[in-house]
Amino acid sequence: MVTYLKEGMKFCMWHPDVRPSLALLDPELTIGLPANLTAWTGADALIHGIEGYCVPGFNPMCDGAALEGLSLISKSLVTAVEDPGNLVARGGMHVGSCLVGISFLKGLGLVHAIAHMVGAEYNTHHGLTNAIILPVVLKYNLPGMEEKVKRMSEAMQFEDHSVPSFISNIEKLLDRIKIPKSLSEIGVPEDCVDRIAEKAMKDQAFATNPRLATLEETKEITLVSIKKAR
Ligand SMILES: [Fe+2]
Repeated sequence: MVTYLKEGMKFCMWHPDVRPSLALLDPELTIGLPANLTAWTGADALIHGIEGYCVPGFNPMCDGAALEGLSLISKSLVTAVEDPGNLVARGGMHVGSCLVGISFLKGLGLVHAIAHMVGAEYNTHHGLTNAIILPVVLKYNLPGMEEKVKRMSEAMQFEDHSVPSFISNIEKLLDRIKIPKSLSEIGVPEDCVDRIAEKAMKDQAFATNPRLATLEETKEITLVSIKKAR
């Protein structure tokens, strides 16, 4: 990711030549990561799985990776935050985040589109910004996506697989890992809404959101995220 300071925007640089030749998934490397960064980066991984899976289009390999990644993340995130030396939980997050990373080759969605611009302007942590915005976008995107919600909900071992229940389970998870309830709590002012929404609509992730938002809808989602996301 590159932050273009002059425009207050973030861009993704993407080319086959920048693929790593080797990736090491060693959970011992993450043992010293503080609880807040474990929660924020873990929430980012969770959102990669959800947004990647919700991108329309036929891609069973990416979707399979998303569901298995979400399963591992659901089993591991709270434990990794609360019991930092737990190598099984750290390993679950590490492998889960890699799987959902593969899944979002399909694209991402509105959470990332808005968070990229908030982060570029206010230097807020990427995962934390995403995690705050997530419930607002889920409430906008998920009605009508019952089949995909059921698959994600089953993968995450939730009991009830309805859309409202999925959203409430995600909110409980965000509470448990101490994600603030509004962007205003991390210093984002209300008067940036128009600017952030306009820029978010130019983000690569905006185009792959399952529901094509209007400018007014994007402004509303941004405003609710700033004032009271949950
Ligand atoms: Fe992300």
